Amino acid sequence: MISDLLSDSFRTTALGAAMKGAGLAVRFLPIPQPTILVGPGASARLGQTIAGFGHGKILIVTDSVVSKLGLLKDLTDALTAGGTQYVVFDAITPDAPIPLIEDGIEFYCANGCDAIVAVGGGSSMDASKAIAAAVSNPGKSLRELAGYFKGLSTPVKIYAVPTTAGTGSEVTVAAVISDPERQAKLVIVDTRLVPKMAALDPCLMTGLPPPITAATGIDALTHAIESFIGKWANPYTDDMALSAVGLIFENLRVAYSDGTNLAAREKMALAATYAGLAFTRANVGYVHAIAHQFGGKYHTPHGLANAIMLPLVLKYSLPAVTERLAVLAVRAKLGKESEGDDVLAQKFLDGVVQLNRDLGIPSFLAALKKSDIPQLAEAACREAHTGYPVPRYMTQAQCEDLIRQVLPPEAAAKAPEAPPKKAAAAATKPAAASRKPAASPKKPSPRAKKPD
Ligand SMILES: NC(=O)c1ccc[n+]([C@@H]2O[C@H](COP(=O)([O-])OP(=O)(O)OC[C@H]3O[C@@H](n4cnc5c(N)ncnc54)[C@H](O)[C@@H]3O)[C@@H](O)[C@H]2O)c1
Ligand SMILES: [Fe+2]
Repeated sequence: MISDLLSDSFRTTALGAAMKGAGLAVRFLPIPQPTILVGPGASARLGQTIAGFGHGKILIVTDSVVSKLGLLKDLTDALTAGGTQYVVFDAITPDAPIPLIEDGIEFYCANGCDAIVAVGGGSSMDASKAIAAAVSNPGKSLRELAGYFKGLSTPVKIYAVPTTAGTGSEVTVAAVISDPERQAKLVIVDTRLVPKMAALDPCLMTGLPPPITAATGIDALTHAIESFIGKWANPYTDDMALSAVGLIFENLRVAYSDGTNLAAREKMALAATYAGLAFTRANVGYVHAIAHQFGGKYHTPHGLANAIMLPLVLKYSLPAVTERLAVLAVRAKLGKESEGDDVLAQKFLDGVVQLNRDLGIPSFLAALKKSDIPQLAEAACREAHTGYPVPRYMTQAQCEDLIRQVLPPEAAAKAPEAPPKKAAAAATKPAAASRKPAASPKKPSPRAKKPD
């Protein structure tokens, strides 16, 4: 069985290795796609539709903010009108920890539920996926389910109503949860975890505070960019990524400054879904590898961590992906096709920096400590080099250099410390995990397929 063959690689609870599993799986296996309902009122339409599916009792999984804002009402009204019973579990917290998900499993079983509707951001959607996998595979703990296709039985049906426009979890194969004992994130990967139906309802996103709008929006942008410049990109993921990049550059500033703008909210929701479709097949890169370490160490919100690192990783990757960044610049309306690739690629980098600035995203990570950098870089390189199809490899020392650039100003201003022995060694020798050399600067290659 494939899960046995791959078991050693995937038994690990480390995010990087699990993501390697996800990457390999989604590169070669067919992935189901949910039916997607889009527009104001979509959550009510989802409720009406699934009320016709004959479920006995539905578990709605959400967080207390979403619940208190009244964002469940359209859905629950539709379920009630359709004669479908439901119960609400609204205890989810960001990066839902295992004990909380175990409470959700118990709640599901105690109430005799037979399907789940996730309403919320990535944390609620991923907690729902974990609950679904666990209740269908009662012989396995959540830790045992972490990895690739660890559950024999198909998870119970999940429907998703995202209330942030970022993770794309409504269309992805992964559930990211956290293990407080090991201070690590776990990933459960299974193509059967993709929700059956999703509702992108902009009305549920109008109250999303600007900093969360910004961070989650840049998470979606990072998914699109990393999947587009990575080595597993294919024509389908390119189309999805390009659409997402175009939509985000056109709408994220508006959604940030005018949260009630339904058109901008809807387009951001679509962009996050398209970016999810792209990266669930083409995977991510160093931005995510580093951001995951910031999340693990400092609990930095995922999107914010990505946003801070994105410009620096793009600058590093530039020599290997000039043509690809040029294509992105044109799609983002930052330049014209008639301009040279070098000019366009630089315009894209500048455009990302400006977008961050306009969204109030800092260029440094306030919590970052200089002494943590070697360990953060080592873990990020391990994660990236165990499976992300990055376009230009970096050594641990190069990774440390990038992270050093996001030190808070007061820490950066102090006299530079002598590099620790390990980092100094890495500076002269590629990290063991990365035997591949950094890509040679710019090889001639045809410009990527133009978007339609
Ligand atoms: N499964 C995947 O493919 C995938 C991909 C990327 C990230 N993730 C995971 O998703 C999680 C992050 O998800 P997220 O960025 O959506 O954040 P989140 O779900 O943690 O929510 C962030 C905050 O926003 C609030 N919120 C959500 N919707 C709101 C609304 N409409 N109005 C007001 N407040 C609202 C929540 O209450 C919460 O406090 C992380 O654990 C990350 O690792 C999963
Ligand atoms: Fe992400």
